[in-house]
Amino acid sequence: MKITVNVAANTKTKQMLKSVLTGLALTLMCVNVQAAKPVKDSSLGLSKTSVNDSPAPEKFSYSNNFPGTGNLLPRAYLNAPPQIPHNIEAFLPVTAKSNNCKMCHDNRAMQGKKVKGQATAIPDSHYTDLRHAPGKVTTELIGARYVCTQCHVPQANVKPLVTNTFND
Ligand code: HEC
Ligand code: HEC
Repeated sequence: MKITVNVAANTKTKQMLKSVLTGLALTLMCVNVQAAKPVKDSSLGLSKTSVNDSPAPEKFSYSNNFPGTGNLLPRAYLNAPPQIPHNIEAFLPVTAKSNNCKMCHDNRAMQGKKVKGQATAIPDSHYTDLRHAPGKVTTELIGARYVCTQCHVPQANVKPLVTNTFND
């Protein structure tokens, strides 16, 4: 009987010792990780200065090209929304009552053709409700494609904040 009690006590002590040691090891590991990798405030965010600074963003401007005077821009990848090669300030904002982009681009007769100096026609995909009726091309622009600038954006000649290595 006495032996059994002793063994039980022994196991309990061993378990306690084990958990204390594990705890200690974990604490040491944490201390180690923190000591090895301090995070500098200048490495947080995109500005690369102290988080207490409020640096002025670099000045940039969009192209002043009026539609019809510029060249088309290369696509970022296959089926990417084409970037806008002309200035759009005069045509914004796009509202429920007015969408100036449609004035030039909503031109079914020109679909599939690209003529220098002329607006590329909005493609069939924008007249198709891909969620509810895929395959059915309608005569009206689908709501999900109404706010053109949600997907199509003009470009400015600026240094990218983050280098992009994406390659299709
Ligand atoms: C006055 C007519 C006109 C208006 C308004 C207009 N565009 Fe354009 N757009 C053009 C022409 C012309 C081109 C062909 C490139 C060029 O010559 O600038 C073009 C090119 C584009 C392209 C590139 C197409 C391709 O094949 O790569 C996109 C995208 C575009 N416009 C989007 C827009 C959006 C979005 C708006 C509204 C904010 C808009 N455009 C308003 C005439 C217009
Ligand atoms: C939800 C995102 C989205 C919206 C909103 C959108 N487009 Fe697009 N657009 C695309 C994508 C993606 C493509 C390329 C794939 C395709 O042709 O469907 C494209 C292609 C185009 C093209 C090129 C057609 C060609 O033959 O090369 C034109 C022009 C265009 N869109 C104009 C517009 C205009 C004008 C509007 C607003 C009335 C608009 N888009 C709204 C995503 C969008």
